[in-house]
Amino acid sequence: MARRDPHSYADDAQPQTEELALIADVDFASRTLRAAATLTFRGPGEGPLDLDTRDLTIDAVVDQDDQPLPYTLHPAEPILGARLAITLPAATRAVTIRYRTSPDASALQWLEPAQTLGGAQPFLFSQCQALHARSVVPLQDTPRIRLRYTAELTVPRALTVVMAAAHVGRTEDEAAGVAIERWSMPEPIPPYLFAFAVGLLWSQDLSPRCRVWAEPPQLAAAVHEFAEVEAMITAAEALFGPYEWERFDVLTMPPSFPYGGMENPRLTFITPTVICGDRSLVSVLAHELAHSWTGNLVTNASAEHFWLNEGFTVYAERRIIEAQDGVEVAALHAALGRRELERTLRRFEARPELTRLRTHLAGVDPDDAYSLVPYEKGYAFLRAIEAQVGREAFDEWLRGYLTMFRFGAVTTEDFVAHLEWRLPGTLAAVDADAWLDGPGLPGSARPPRSERLDAIEALAGTIPDHDQTAAWSPTEWQLFLDAVPRPVSVATCRALDDRFDLTAGSNHDVLVTWLALALEAGDDVVLPRVEQVLTTVGRMKYLRPLYAGLARNPATRDLARATFARARAGYHPIGRALVEGILRAVDAA
Ligand code: BES
Ligand code: ZN
Repeated sequence: MARRDPHSYADDAQPQTEELALIADVDFASRTLRAAATLTFRGPGEGPLDLDTRDLTIDAVVDQDDQPLPYTLHPAEPILGARLAITLPAATRAVTIRYRTSPDASALQWLEPAQTLGGAQPFLFSQCQALHARSVVPLQDTPRIRLRYTAELTVPRALTVVMAAAHVGRTEDEAAGVAIERWSMPEPIPPYLFAFAVGLLWSQDLSPRCRVWAEPPQLAAAVHEFAEVEAMITAAEALFGPYEWERFDVLTMPPSFPYGGMENPRLTFITPTVICGDRSLVSVLAHELAHSWTGNLVTNASAEHFWLNEGFTVYAERRIIEAQDGVEVAALHAALGRRELERTLRRFEARPELTRLRTHLAGVDPDDAYSLVPYEKGYAFLRAIEAQVGREAFDEWLRGYLTMFRFGAVTTEDFVAHLEWRLPGTLAAVDADAWLDGPGLPGSARPPRSERLDAIEALAGTIPDHDQTAAWSPTEWQLFLDAVPRPVSVATCRALDDRFDLTAGSNHDVLVTWLALALEAGDDVVLPRVEQVLTTVGRMKYLRPLYAGLARNPATRDLARATFARARAGYHPIGRALVEGILRAVDAA
């Protein structure tokens, strides 16, 4: 037996899935999928087959000839879920599992019509990374086992299905009031990239290979915000090689979407908070696009090597930004990332093992280990390597790495071996062991510098004039707010807000940085705006600082609880869990 991923029952010694065929009925009334999943193996197999499941009800397991197969659904483990152990007779080519999902499936959020912009139709979306695909489909839920798939979803006729796949066709059954949508994913993907959404969705083309999807009331704004995406793809191709996924469509998510974006192949999911009218938050789109190479093409072999996805992607994202907007803008993003990393490292002081790049996560839920560390420490490590070998050599190495492991899965050891092979001596020169296996930031880590950053820092502790800030980008505003000396007073907050009307801001990154600062000061004026953000947006990047800010201060602790009680139903399950953790921590303290 060889289980190589601590978060999956998948076993190397057993048959490996090559293809999934999914047929599912999407039932909004019971909030379930009634489904049949056929897993076809790379070759005929026999003996035990262990699949990952979470909260699935299994109705039957049969082989390619519809012959029932013996199986056991083991009791659920807290992180892994329930092992579905099937016994395959000789020469089994495929198994079909008939099953139903739970209304609480961890990958699915079912929204009432009132939780959508249009208000008339319900909405459903999936979010499978890291360990949630198994709550939608029984499969070998580890990124090492890539699969192609086909899917046939039956939905109410008023709704549209979109998938991170290629559209095959739609047929309607008027009598039954349903539509059947067929999709197919020709490129093999790790299971965490399986994704779909169902809702009242319209689309508009941006270019021959890019289309924006959104609820009708938001489509025009989304088209305007994402208009630069084709130019981004062109820039990325010049850096990292051809785009391998044919299309790059973007789905504007409901506000409860817990992440900024999710790099679902062919169909990136993006939080609507990015739509602020001036394209100032499109770095999220650059990030998800960059995953088309780093993450989707070359995939972390397990959540223990997550930095290979995210650190590389932050690096690639900033190279795209540099190509489009110049070195200074990219440097400001890097500076902000470093500030956020330092804050995160302080938050994880009691769990230094989670601040390594190479993590050991047996018994740890990747959702609980999630932080900016793999993103920004990974980025800083790659910049240290780049500085050591020079950009030209680094770029050549990176392209070689992407080619070598394309459509494959990589561990930190693979990365180390490849770098040592192509650029011998580099690991030792940058003290790679300290980066990979040490906690925090190595002493040798260089802080990102830029002239514009120096100018901002020179103003820390002052209330600047309008002419000093007139040319500031949202990134510069965040850097300024971060640099305000602590502890900060209510008077300082009021002076800043009176001059710059920060509480009325529409860029959520700046707004939430500001609101968190004002909460630190105990500035009550911002409380209605904090409540308004928390009851309309479910992105965890914003929930975390605002709930923590409210909960830290005894005077607003009850407001934190009351706001959560009102907003909870609208949050995604992982957003809910995050807030519950924050509130529990203050109750325990
Ligand atoms: N793949 C991640 C989101 C993710 C990570 C979902 C782990 C579930 C588990 C995505 O690419 C991401 O990093 N999103 C960031 C965007 C940001 C770095 C621009 C986010 O959501 O904040
Ligand atoms: Zn990412």
